[in-house]
Amino acid sequence: MDNKQVIIFDTTLRDGEQALQQSLTSKQKLQIALCLEQLGVDVIEAGFPISSPEDLNSVREIALNVKNSTICGLSRALDKDIEACYEAFKGIDHYRIHTFIATSDIHVKDKLKKDFDDIVNMAVHAVKKARSYTDDVEFSCEDAGRTPIDHLCRMVENAISAGATTINIPDTVGYTLPYEFGGIIKTLFNRVPNIDKAVISVHCHNDLGMATANSLSAVLEGARQIECTVNGLGERAGNTSLEEVVMTMKLREEYMHGVYTKIVSENIARASQVVSGITNEPVPSHKAIVGSNAFAHSSGIHQDGVLKNKSTYEILTPQSVGFKENNMHMTARSGRHMIKAVLEKLGYREGSYNLDDVYARFLKLADRKGQVFDYDLEALLFFSHQDELDTQFELDNLSVLSGGKNIIPTATVRLKIGKRTRTDSGTGNGPVDAVFNCISRLTGIKLNLDNFQISAKGSGMNAQGQVDVDVIYEGRHYHGKGLSTDVIESSALALISACNSIYRAKLINEKQDKN
Ligand code: KIV
Ligand code: ZN
Repeated sequence: MDNKQVIIFDTTLRDGEQALQQSLTSKQKLQIALCLEQLGVDVIEAGFPISSPEDLNSVREIALNVKNSTICGLSRALDKDIEACYEAFKGIDHYRIHTFIATSDIHVKDKLKKDFDDIVNMAVHAVKKARSYTDDVEFSCEDAGRTPIDHLCRMVENAISAGATTINIPDTVGYTLPYEFGGIIKTLFNRVPNIDKAVISVHCHNDLGMATANSLSAVLEGARQIECTVNGLGERAGNTSLEEVVMTMKLREEYMHGVYTKIVSENIARASQVVSGITNEPVPSHKAIVGSNAFAHSSGIHQDGVLKNKSTYEILTPQSVGFKENNMHMTARSGRHMIKAVLEKLGYREGSYNLDDVYARFLKLADRKGQVFDYDLEALLFFSHQDELDTQFELDNLSVLSGGKNIIPTATVRLKIGKRTRTDSGTGNGPVDAVFNCISRLTGIKLNLDNFQISAKGSGMNAQGQVDVDVIYEGRHYHGKGLSTDVIESSALALISACNSIYRAKLINEKQDKN
């Protein structure tokens, strides 16, 4: 390894998992670990083996199945913890034991109720014990960000002398500022005589939103391992987000002194979606690099700029992190250029429609609907009256039986279909599935559900559940939205709205075929 490579140590399965309401199953953890391996992560912290027999087995399972990343287990500076790590890794060729103890005054005195001298002795003992099992030992000074610098230097020197090959400096409570945290790393390099015998690592939390900046500041001062998680998952406000540090080092290489990582950046989007899906932790739409809005353009000025040259408002290409393409949201803020460009992409040449007329009606529709999709725009070309954009399918009545041990979820749905009314009843895996099955039979539209998302709108007694569905029908994507105080009703409304868009697209196809 040359001195420009920054090791990416992923702790999604340990620090990230600590933040979840429910722990992950071994199978889910293995799925994430295999995805991290494909991402090119150097070290995967797979768990904390002493915490439970399931965790120990899951660390072992991951170590047995992952071939291209080093697997690491966490332990306090206690014999039984280190032995549990050894148990998890028995027979494995190469693995890392990561042992830690707190070093800040508040943790040493109030949490551990010890003297700093005792802490140093415990750390040295733990590192030596871990080294008796493996030659890859990491030692962390928990709460290093708030540890008096003399204590920190002394601890680091002793841990390295005892055999630690990686020294991790965590900003456990996300308290420091970038200049300050970088300064701590700089001081360690200046004052610890044996510092060149270990890789210096950082582990930052995001309590003040500084985790990415602090980690990069440390790299500029010589740190060569960053501990991070996919989507920034982690205790409280989370950990340093893997995608942010990796893409910053890649994009701003010249300012980052030419450092690099071995991450396959094109696999980032997939890793983000896998982690979010398995952990049930949605990625905020505005999240840097992986949020759904990270490559979306909404304002007319921005859309116009991006149509002329993507780099006007895009510093990274969506493809560089594995997304297919940027997203132009058509809203009331979109300009005529944008509408023209979308129609062109759909195959409508300028001159075959009246842009002034379509744009005026697009604005009215955008005011009413919020976001307009390509098929809505196409419908504007084919239907001259706004009313014709309205519904073919309308929910007239919905009742659902669910819950309880021996009850099979059953739904009855009555739809207005054009001028008629039809009813269907049936079962499903759950209440929403039962409702969807009925709607599919009533509309005659068999679609694939690509994405289903529930979000709360408003709070307290007035809260409503919004359901957004993305569906695929004959290779084209459609979106539907439903809002109600009852999420099952929201789900039905969302699917019906997608069916209405599909119905209109089918009418357009028929009209096109006739012409
Ligand atoms: O935040 C922290 O200090 C930790 C250590 C166990 C590394 O997670
Ligand atoms: Zn942590």
